[in-house]
Amino acid sequence: MRVLLTGGAGFIGRQVRHQLVAEGHEVVVLDSFRPDVHTHKPAPRPGLIVGDVRDGATVAAALDGIDTVIHLAAKVGLGVDLDDLDDYVSSNSLGTAVLLRQLAHTKIRHVVYASSMVVYGEGRYDCDQHGQVAPGPRRTEDLEAGRFEPPCPICGAQLRPGLVAESALLDPRNAYAASKLNGEHLAASWARETGGRVSALRFHNVYGPGMPRNTPYAGVAAIFRSMLERGEAPRVFEDGRQRRDFIHVRDIATAVTMSAAALPHQPAFTAYNVGSGTMQTIGDVATALSRAYNGPAPVVTGQYRLGDVRHITASSARLKDTLGWKPAYDLTTGLADLVAGGHRW
Ligand code: UD1
Repeated sequence: MRVLLTGGAGFIGRQVRHQLVAEGHEVVVLDSFRPDVHTHKPAPRPGLIVGDVRDGATVAAALDGIDTVIHLAAKVGLGVDLDDLDDYVSSNSLGTAVLLRQLAHTKIRHVVYASSMVVYGEGRYDCDQHGQVAPGPRRTEDLEAGRFEPPCPICGAQLRPGLVAESALLDPRNAYAASKLNGEHLAASWARETGGRVSALRFHNVYGPGMPRNTPYAGVAAIFRSMLERGEAPRVFEDGRQRRDFIHVRDIATAVTMSAAALPHQPAFTAYNVGSGTMQTIGDVATALSRAYNGPAPVVTGQYRLGDVRHITASSARLKDTLGWKPAYDLTTGLADLVAGGHRW
């Protein structure tokens, strides 16, 4: 394949580029080197275009000679406050729209789109009495009182969290999630209009060497790592029993390259969850990292972030069954890798 990789200088992008090159594909990276992520902007060189995906002329030039696009360029994370709102829409929704518009003027019909598990909002929940239910956003007064588990919306009983499949209700709860889902919808409509093929990969919590540091947009594993490197205890929000699925960045890279190669045989639009299949509590991840650093034990603070969901854990059976993808890292090996550090662009 001859691939245009947007966001190819980011945490996930660098690993995807590495994997593509190792597999013998040609890669052109388009990356804006956003100042909130990168400390310097390199000069362009063969295989690297320094530019913004929202700039149609730059994208048009970047698409020359390409047969497959992997679109990772995005503003990630939960955001700091509502001042981030328009930047999510611009960087993610508009960025995807400009890319798709330019693609429509070419013969390129194969796109992998980086989506996120956050499009589901709260994960799957079952009530003993009412079966599968969809709890709404958690109430501030419940969170203030330390009631972190969302109750059954019908009877208020405690719920059992489960695994979401790709067919689950989509319920984005913050600007990032809304912009990622919007990108999926735009890509699906582009595929219908052009006869193109899109695979949207809904990534779980990605960690590993090269994770961004010291930014409010970093994932929790990177935040805990930075605290431990300063000799501080990781600060665990809520009661630490909220669940996520942590997936190593190299396993993500394999999922991306496999799904890109499979696009010619895919339907117009397919969503795939990408997770390790092993659920962890945030408290357990903090404890494992503290041990790996021989650092202070985590502190459970009871603090909360309004945009956070309680549990989000998904089934990646579709990706495994359809493409034969299998994650190679368990959390212990993966965290050791994170502690050992990583390369930069
Ligand atoms: C993360 C990603 C999001 C991705 C999603 C996929 C980030 C910032 N967010 O969202 O881009 O789409 O996974 O599933 O990478 N927490 C603490 N202490 C802290 C910070 C966070 O306990 O100092 C807790 C949070 O309250 C939350 C959990 O850790 O319960 C995970 O937070 P975070 O890493 O921000 O990830 P998600 O919100 O799951």
